[in-house]
Amino acid sequence: MEKSYGQGDPHIAEYVTRLFAQDDVVLGEIRTRSQARGLPDIAVSPMDGRHLEVLARLGNVRRAVEIGTLGGYSGVCLLRGMADGVLHALELDPECADVARESFARAGFASRARVTVGPALTTLPSLVAEGPFDLVFVDADKVSYPEYVEWAADNLRVGGVVICDNAFLFGEVIREPADAPNEARAILAMRRCHELLALGGRFVATILPTGEGLAVGVKVR
Ligand SMILES: C[S@@+](CC[C@H](N)C(=O)[O-])C[C@H]1O[C@@H](n2cnc3c(N)ncnc32)[C@H](O)[C@@H]1O
Repeated sequence: MEKSYGQGDPHIAEYVTRLFAQDDVVLGEIRTRSQARGLPDIAVSPMDGRHLEVLARLGNVRRAVEIGTLGGYSGVCLLRGMADGVLHALELDPECADVARESFARAGFASRARVTVGPALTTLPSLVAEGPFDLVFVDADKVSYPEYVEWAADNLRVGGVVICDNAFLFGEVIREPADAPNEARAILAMRRCHELLALGGRFVATILPTGEGLAVGVKVR
């Protein structure tokens, strides 16, 4: 898996990952089994998994939503950081959801992970009654990021946190949409997501400068 970290020096990334965030047996097995089941190799990096665990611990998170679960790697990281309570894991693809359910069970979280299959914009309304939430992690289709952040603004408690992966959109976020027609919708959506976080008045937010860009916003109103 080739994912950069921090200021881009691969030696720094290798040093920090080795010290702080090597995959253990459980996380390593999720990657191997996901690959064997034909899932794409697009789970968060070990360092980003550790960021999620630390952020969940910081926020004393007990009620969380993950939008885009794949095989459950990042979900297990979040659950490891959660003192107690439930992670609602939303996933479009039934095959991925199946792998994720097994990952949560193998990691000891069968009773604390609820996997919902379907497009998140359709399934999110069914979660409203379970909130307000302490944390929402967004890692699905980029064109829907603004809607996901708006949902988080309405369904997090004040002090809760929204986290959005791939905030740099693989380097594309600052490109002119007209110069990248295939990416134009995603570029505009990611910029709208950042505008909501930075200027929308509901969050105090930043983008942690991981290789992918990890946007983090704390709900203030
Ligand atoms: C980058 S992967 C998620 C990786 C996962 N968070 C991890 O790090 O282990 C994106 C996932 O979002 C899912 N996805 C894409 N569009 C979606 C949608 N509209 N609703 C829910 N899930 C979606 C994909 O099927 C894919 O599994």
